[in-house]
Amino acid sequence: TPIRAGSYSDELVKTANTIATPGRGILAIDESNATCGKRLASINLDNTEVNRQAYRQLLLTTPGLGEYISGAIFFEETLYQSTTDGKKFVDCCREENIMPGIKVDKGLVPLPGSNNESWCQGLDGLASRSAEYYKQGARFAKWRTVVSIPCGPSALAVKEAAWGLARYASISQDNGLVPIVEPEILLDGDHSIERTREVAEQVWAEVFYYLAQNNVLFEGILLKPSMVTPGAEHKEKASPETIANYTLTVLKRRVPPAVPGIMFLSGGQSEAEATLNLNAMNQSPNPWHVSFSYARALQNTVLKTWQGRPENVKAAQTALLIRAKANSLAQLGRYSA
Ligand code: 13P
Repeated sequence: TPIRAGSYSDELVKTANTIATPGRGILAIDESNATCGKRLASINLDNTEVNRQAYRQLLLTTPGLGEYISGAIFFEETLYQSTTDGKKFVDCCREENIMPGIKVDKGLVPLPGSNNESWCQGLDGLASRSAEYYKQGARFAKWRTVVSIPCGPSALAVKEAAWGLARYASISQDNGLVPIVEPEILLDGDHSIERTREVAEQVWAEVFYYLAQNNVLFEGILLKPSMVTPGAEHKEKASPETIANYTLTVLKRRVPPAVPGIMFLSGGQSEAEATLNLNAMNQSPNPWHVSFSYARALQNTVLKTWQGRPENVKAAQTALLIRAKANSLAQLGRYSA
């Protein structure tokens, strides 16, 4: 008997498995308006709705994108937007067999009683918002919460992060959205890879403990973890083989094989690093589809190439396809630089 015999159970499993198809991963373009503004500022563009729409149109109308991309995560504004020709962005995705998704968390705020840590808001009204997003065409959701190693993490912050993700996942599944569960362990800090391993073990254990307590259907979720790496300011870098070895060892200890997909975030890694690390993870078989859900590691070159100029759109789309294809090959373990 299914853990969750809701009306959406079969659809959730199908959606999760479609996103986790071989050679494909997720394009994360769910930057909040504030974060999108920072990306636009890097190419001297104002943070207007017109510019955000133009940028997302460039990305979502890239011909052939669906060969490498199985899902695209939107910010709420994007879910209701169309191309300048009037085609809904959701329909651009559908034509390429790309599942549209939606960021549903309401961002981070300080967690009282913690060591300068944060918690993630957004559970109030989430059921009705999720039902509305489903009607608009979204089929999966994302909730990103963060854990900081230099700030602890405190037991309180880890518990709150895990509990919030589990409550969100349960509400999403009741409304037909596959929840992407994203407990980001921030790269910031000078700690060793061993320390990241300890924290990842603790965080993933608590996340799956509370997911189970909330009767979440594991076959209908996707995990979006950070890779286990040394802190960004640590004296030594780790090789892709070391990162893959640490990350997979902990994932195998803490994440049930019922989960169809592990979709890594790039977390500030360079485009090349993110691809090489993913490729290293796929050198031998995994219990899950191990793939990508990158924002910056798919978009950095695209933005630089575009510069907000219509005459650069084609070249920027080509840059997107190059990164998407490289990560597609890395998902299959067949990328070489
Ligand atoms: P990065 O790949 O840039 O870390 O972003 C992924 C994401 O969606 C963070 O929530």
